[in-house]
Amino acid sequence: MEQPLYLKNVWYVAGWSSDIKRGDRIGRTFLDQPVVLWRDQQGTAHALADRCAHRAMPLSAGVVEGSAIRCPYHGLEFGGDGRCTRIPAQDRIPDTARVRAYPLVEQQGLLWIWMGDTGRADVMLVPSYPIHEDPAYAWRSAHFPVNGSWQLLVDNLMDLSHLPYIHAKTIGGNPDLHFRTKTQSEKLTNGVRVIRQMPDSEPPPTYVDAAGFTGRIDRWQEIEFEPVLIRIHTGACDAGTGAYEGRRDHGFSMRGFHGITPETATTTHYFWSMATNILRDGIPDEVFEQTARTFREDQEVLELQQARMSADPDQPMIDIASDVGGRHTRQFISRLLREEATERLAAA
Ligand code: FES
Ligand SMILES: [Fe+2]
Repeated sequence: MEQPLYLKNVWYVAGWSSDIKRGDRIGRTFLDQPVVLWRDQQGTAHALADRCAHRAMPLSAGVVEGSAIRCPYHGLEFGGDGRCTRIPAQDRIPDTARVRAYPLVEQQGLLWIWMGDTGRADVMLVPSYPIHEDPAYAWRSAHFPVNGSWQLLVDNLMDLSHLPYIHAKTIGGNPDLHFRTKTQSEKLTNGVRVIRQMPDSEPPPTYVDAAGFTGRIDRWQEIEFEPVLIRIHTGACDAGTGAYEGRRDHGFSMRGFHGITPETATTTHYFWSMATNILRDGIPDEVFEQTARTFREDQEVLELQQARMSADPDQPMIDIASDVGGRHTRQFISRLLREEATERLAAA
């Protein structure tokens, strides 16, 4: 049985709420399917197949008119449910005049789309990210289109041992310290959690800049994967002040949200946000830029890996000890992919 390339029956991040203004639309591809995301004049966001039912013109080239999107070619209009609501100079609208509507949920600054079987979309299962609504945090977001597969991005985020190499100038810190740090990986019902602690360590440059640490720190990294997003909580307190006993309010916390949505088998939408508890008035450009630079360093790696892998997809790869979190995550994803393949076979 051939394994599918991506999970279908999960909620994926389609974008940031701020990506589409009222009365606006954008075209994006998810799981190889072109989608138009648009916001009607009342403010509700919708997702439709980006292909007019008449002559296949992309609706994302059209305009939003009240509560419909209008195709730019012959003026057919479609509502949020995908039904055609108007055909110029024709009274009867046939039932076949419709495009596929994808379930879309907007919450906590994010747009979530369901690309799988519509009947199985359960809005109760949309992943929650309360940090975006927490007054203790300031946050900013970005969208990187990556020329690499979503699995490479998952691997990258679940593995922090690349920090001292790829991110030496930003969040890296000293390689020995990273390799001396034990990585604990735990399987959860719907994902994987990786925890690393670096007690009594030297603060990396970003931490000194952001939080003004002058002495040694107790540092933590906690990463949680669920299909298909990753939450990362990193931070530090002055050494010996209770970080590992749960007393962290006085310290520096950085929360990373990483929404990972396949565009195609080898390209990915990377939607990330950074939030921190020490900059309540907002995240200044230079701090945001430093984070963005870090993720661009990763992006570059993924694109180089993908080029090699596309040239010879069947060549095997080896694992090393620090891959434990990544390995658990791959096993978990593989199981879900197999389950979806079996279901599809049974349904056929
Ligand atoms: S192609 Fe859309 S109206 Fe004709
Ligand atoms: Fe990285």
